[in-house]
Amino acid sequence: MIDESRVLPPGIAADVALSEVRQLRAGDRPTHGGQLFAYVYDPAVPGLDELAAAAHRESAHVNGLDPTAFPSLLAMENALVGAAGRVLGAGPGTTAPDVVGSVTSGGTESLILAVKTARDAHPEIAAPRIVVPSTAHAAFAKAAHYLRVALDVVPVSPDRLRPDPSAMAAAIRPETVLVACSAPSYAHGVVDPVAEIAAAAAAAGVRCHVDACFGGWTLPYLRRLGEPVPAFDFAVPGVTSISVDLHKYAYAPKGVSVLLHRDARLRAPQYFAYADWPGYTMINPVIASTRSGGPIAAAYATLRHLGDDGYLRLADVTRDAVAGLADAVRAVDGLRLMAEPESTVVCFTATEGGPDLFVLVDELTARGWHTQPQLSYAGLPASVHLTVTASVAPRVAEFGPDLADAVAAARAAGPVALPPELVALATSLTPDALTPELVAGLAGGLGLGGGDAPTDRMAVVNTLLDAAPPALRERLLVEFVGLLQRPTW
Ligand SMILES: Cc1ncc(COP(=O)(O)O)c(C=O)c1O
Repeated sequence: MIDESRVLPPGIAADVALSEVRQLRAGDRPTHGGQLFAYVYDPAVPGLDELAAAAHRESAHVNGLDPTAFPSLLAMENALVGAAGRVLGAGPGTTAPDVVGSVTSGGTESLILAVKTARDAHPEIAAPRIVVPSTAHAAFAKAAHYLRVALDVVPVSPDRLRPDPSAMAAAIRPETVLVACSAPSYAHGVVDPVAEIAAAAAAAGVRCHVDACFGGWTLPYLRRLGEPVPAFDFAVPGVTSISVDLHKYAYAPKGVSVLLHRDARLRAPQYFAYADWPGYTMINPVIASTRSGGPIAAAYATLRHLGDDGYLRLADVTRDAVAGLADAVRAVDGLRLMAEPESTVVCFTATEGGPDLFVLVDELTARGWHTQPQLSYAGLPASVHLTVTASVAPRVAEFGPDLADAVAAARAAGPVALPPELVALATSLTPDALTPELVAGLAGGLGLGGGDAPTDRMAVVNTLLDAAPPALRERLLVEFVGLLQRPTW
């Protein structure tokens, strides 16, 4: 007798299976339509999704594990690396003719590999360290954690939002294997002083990585459109590696980033090779070994279809959208831009006496605008982040009135008032006092304990998280995500 609870349900028709996926997808944030300002990058180019999906399907079962078995994948990967190099100041006739690179699964993998490569270039350094500004993407902290590399974080001031190059230089120690900076930073969209930082790194004989995951595909086009984009790519002496995500502003479907090194010697420690077992000799340039050809083929087709003219036009459209959104923020009393836009981010905060930002985010959600709240951190105020893509352009005129309306509603609702004992708890707890029971209790008290996806009203949760130090934020959210990640039987 078969125990039904021990076996999978019987197969269903293909169209029924697909309709299940579609039903599940219906509960998601809208990936198209220009109203989601994080997570997705939508150029709103007719037919592009279909092209990418068809290319993905062609290569989904191809395995990047062995480039000799599937030369198509090697050719497409080399073409993507070449394209990224061209966009970022490398290639024949430039000061960086020998740039090489790899396709990875995303920005985080590119950054982990940049740190691994720098670390493994110095086996003689027993306790390697990296220097990053506090605005560097969290993936550097993840890399440091995974790779047991110490993280030296250089603070940024609230007015500049980018590191002082002399502070970066001063943080370099004999054990430093990598200095990193952003072009631009995710949170505020500002470009770090790459030339000065790279010069300081070079003077110390240390590698310098430019994290252009977010903006590496738009900044060069914005410059061509006349924007004052500072030098940040391989044209800058001392820059040894750059990462750029094709699944962001190259508008490829998820799963593709490129990590470039100035030359093959610098790249060499990136490879992992292992022949000491009875199976095939494993030679991996990236973290994954088996790699689907799907994302690479989709990115390849996307790049070929959009081309230089397409990206230039999309950057132009996006630039107009950024300007329109920034104007909308400037026009509302009680808000101010964190920084004048330098790329494709609009980031704003509340002025003294302005609306409660977390209530405002909920009010915007209620009006169909999905923005990203950012908690206060080390002297920087809480803020609202908008990643702007070309799809936003046709919606910009609607945003201003909705923003004004949402601000009025947030003012009328007033700020979130947490019970004082909860604030006291959030501010006084030390990481060691955070027992799983206490964290679960706190999460439960905030309505985060039931294992359900969060509602659209998150102001109370964000206010508590904002009052808590980073270690408590991390613990609370890990607990919460852990509650969400439960098998459905
Ligand atoms: C500047 C920067 N670096 C790295 C990353 C990490 O990229 P991913 O989410 O693809 O791992 C991001 C993501 O937004 C980013 O903006």
